Amino acid sequence: MERMKVTPWSVEGKVNYEHLIKEFGVSPITDELISRIRKITGEVHLQLRRKIFFAHRDLDFILDKYERGEKFVLYTGRGPSGPVHIGHIVPWIFTKWLQEKFGVKLYFQVTDDERFLYNPSRQLSKEEIQKYVYDNILDVIAIGFDERKTEIVVNTKAAGALYNIAIEVARHVTLSTVKAIFGFKDEDNIGIVFFPAIQAAPAFLESKLTGVNAPCLIPAAIDQDPYWRMTRDVAPKIGYYKPAQIHSRFLPALTAGGKMSASIPESAIYLKDSDEEVEYKIMNAFTGGRATKKEQKKLGGQPEICSIYQFFSFLFEENDEELMERYTACRSGELLCGECKAELTSRIKKFLHQHRKKREKAKDKIDEFLFKG
Ligand code: TYM
Repeated sequence: MERMKVTPWSVEGKVNYEHLIKEFGVSPITDELISRIRKITGEVHLQLRRKIFFAHRDLDFILDKYERGEKFVLYTGRGPSGPVHIGHIVPWIFTKWLQEKFGVKLYFQVTDDERFLYNPSRQLSKEEIQKYVYDNILDVIAIGFDERKTEIVVNTKAAGALYNIAIEVARHVTLSTVKAIFGFKDEDNIGIVFFPAIQAAPAFLESKLTGVNAPCLIPAAIDQDPYWRMTRDVAPKIGYYKPAQIHSRFLPALTAGGKMSASIPESAIYLKDSDEEVEYKIMNAFTGGRATKKEQKKLGGQPEICSIYQFFSFLFEENDEELMERYTACRSGELLCGECKAELTSRIKKFLHQHRKKREKAKDKIDEFLFKG
C-alpha cells in the first residue's frame, strides 16, 4: 500500500487518522470535550458530534479562558490556487458555527504569496492568483461569516502588519527546523522557506493590534498542522499564548482513495460546477457498492469506504438518525447506490444554487470584509 504522507501541499496514500494523532502529537476530541462545548453552545455542530473534527491541541485551554470571560479569536484560511471545492468549505462551515456560537472575531488569511512561491501542480502567475483571490473571497463571504467580526487578510495587501509579526517569529526558527517540519530541500526557493512565518502571523495579529494577549483557535483540516507545530514552539518565546487547533478529517475524493484534491478535477465538486457536472461526477463516483444489484442485495454495501456516504456525513445530512438509517439500509443491501447518488446529487445542486446566490451578493461586501490594518 502507498505510504501515508500528509503535508500542507499534498496528501498521499490512505490517511490513517489514529496514526496521525500519534505522528503529529495531537489529542483526540473526546466525548467530555464535546459535552463541555454543548454546555456553552446548547447544540453541537454535526462535524463535531460525528468527530469529523477529530483532534485538537489546547481546545480545553480555549474553553477554560472562555468560561472565565476571556474571548478567543478564530483564525483560518485559504491558498488561492484555483476555484474552491466542497472539501475546502468543510472547515469554513464549522468556523462559521464557532463564530456564531461563541460570538468571536475571525481572521481569515488568503495566502496569495504562498501560491506564488510554491504550488504543487503547476506554477501560477501573479495575475492568475489575483483572479483566484477575488473569486475565492466571494466564496468565503458567501459562507455567511459575520461581517462585523471578520477580517479577510490578503497577504500581499496586509504585508506591513503581517511582516512585522513574521520577523519576530522567523528569528526563532532555524533552517534545520523548517527543513525537518516541512521537508524543504536546498533547491527550494527562499521565499517558501520564510513563508511559514507569514502563516504563523495571524495567530498573533489580534494580540499585536490590541496590545492584549488574545487566545487563538485555528480550525482547519489536519494537513495544516506542520505550520502550527512551528508556531506553537515560537509563541511563548515572543510573549504570546500558543495558538490552539481543532483539526478535521479530509472530505474524501469522489474517485477511489485519498482526499478531495484541486489537482484532480474529477475527484472534487467545485462550488462553480454546473448541474450537469455535479450529475456526471456523482454518477461516476467511487462507492462502497458491489458489482451487481444481485450481489448488493446479497452482501450489502460498504458505507465506510463510500465517498457518497461520506458526503452525507460531512455536509449533506443534518439528521443523525437519518444518516444512521442510510448506513444500515446500505449495509443490509436494501439501499442501492443509484438511489443514494440521486439523492446526494439533488442536495448538492440545491446547496450550490443557494451558494451562488450568496456569492452574487458577496460582490458588494468585499470591502467591508477586507483587513486594512
Ligand atoms: P488550502 O487552500 O489548501 O485549503 C483551505 C482549507 O481547506 C482545508 N482542506 C480540506 N478540508 C476538508 N477536506 C478536504 N478534502 C480539504 N482540502 C483542504 C485545509 O485544511 C484548509 O483549512 N496554507 C493554507 C491557507 C491558510 C490557512 C491558514 C488554512 C493560511 N492560514 C489557517 C487554515 C488555517 C492553504 O493553502 O489552504
